[in-house]
Amino acid sequence: MSSFEFPGEYYEIMRRDFRPLAAETEFLASFVAPGGRVLDLGCGTGTNLRELGARGFSCVGVDQSASFIDYARKAGGPGVAYVHGKAEEFVADAPFDLVYSLFMTLNYLPRQELRPLLERTRKHLSPGGRLVLEFGHLLNFVENYQPHTVAHHRAEGVLITRLARQSVNPHAANWRNEETLLVRGPDGQVAMYDNFFDQSVLTGPEVRELLTETGFTVTAEYGGFRKEPAPGHGRGPLVIVAAPTEEFTA
Ligand SMILES: C[S@@+](CC[C@H](N)C(=O)[O-])C[C@H]1O[C@@H](n2cnc3c(N)ncnc32)[C@H](O)[C@@H]1O
Repeated sequence: MSSFEFPGEYYEIMRRDFRPLAAETEFLASFVAPGGRVLDLGCGTGTNLRELGARGFSCVGVDQSASFIDYARKAGGPGVAYVHGKAEEFVADAPFDLVYSLFMTLNYLPRQELRPLLERTRKHLSPGGRLVLEFGHLLNFVENYQPHTVAHHRAEGVLITRLARQSVNPHAANWRNEETLLVRGPDGQVAMYDNFFDQSVLTGPEVRELLTETGFTVTAEYGGFRKEPAPGHGRGPLVIVAAPTEEFTA
């Protein structure tokens, strides 16, 4: 389960501290021909889609957070449409040339939903289309585990203090994050928001196997959005690019 029901402008501020947006945009754009159709599964506030829409791609974003989708719709941008709903329930009416899921969104899905999601995604891809998955894998969770985190994010006169509590259920390979966001606005007013989410702790082999079983062939793996090689020690991000397997018929 996850909430992400707080104002999208605060998510945008925090995202900037974590993510290389320009590199993400170049990376995603490199897998789709000009004017192609793009689907973002778990698009959040639409950050990536606004950049891709501005480059002339035709974009659709799906997210379960009503406040993030509301923010994304208001933020606008050319050629981007948003659907409020669960990624695992999304059904497309036309094929996409690129489907992607970034910033660990795959981990938020209930584990049993991954296979049907990938099966449906394969049907959503045009011939020659690409799937890009960036997910949190076992070592990310192990290395980043802290029972309590306090972090500050600042921009545009806003100060966000994030108080996070994390717990791990090793038997379910589940990571729970509960956080309180204290936001001080430019006018000095303070507001408080709760956010929580559960994440499935995935492994690289598990995701590769699921991809193979659902009719994908892994075409590349990277350690980041500048197409760095995935490091042998397994630390850091893992970005998998896959294409529909041509002879797959299931
Ligand atoms: C860390 S944010 C990443 C958002 C976006 N991909 C980005 O890079 O900014 C995770 C997002 O996953 C969304 N999410 C979680 N479970 C989901 C589901 N089952 N279907 C669609 N979106 C989901 C949350 O609402 C949230 O916006």
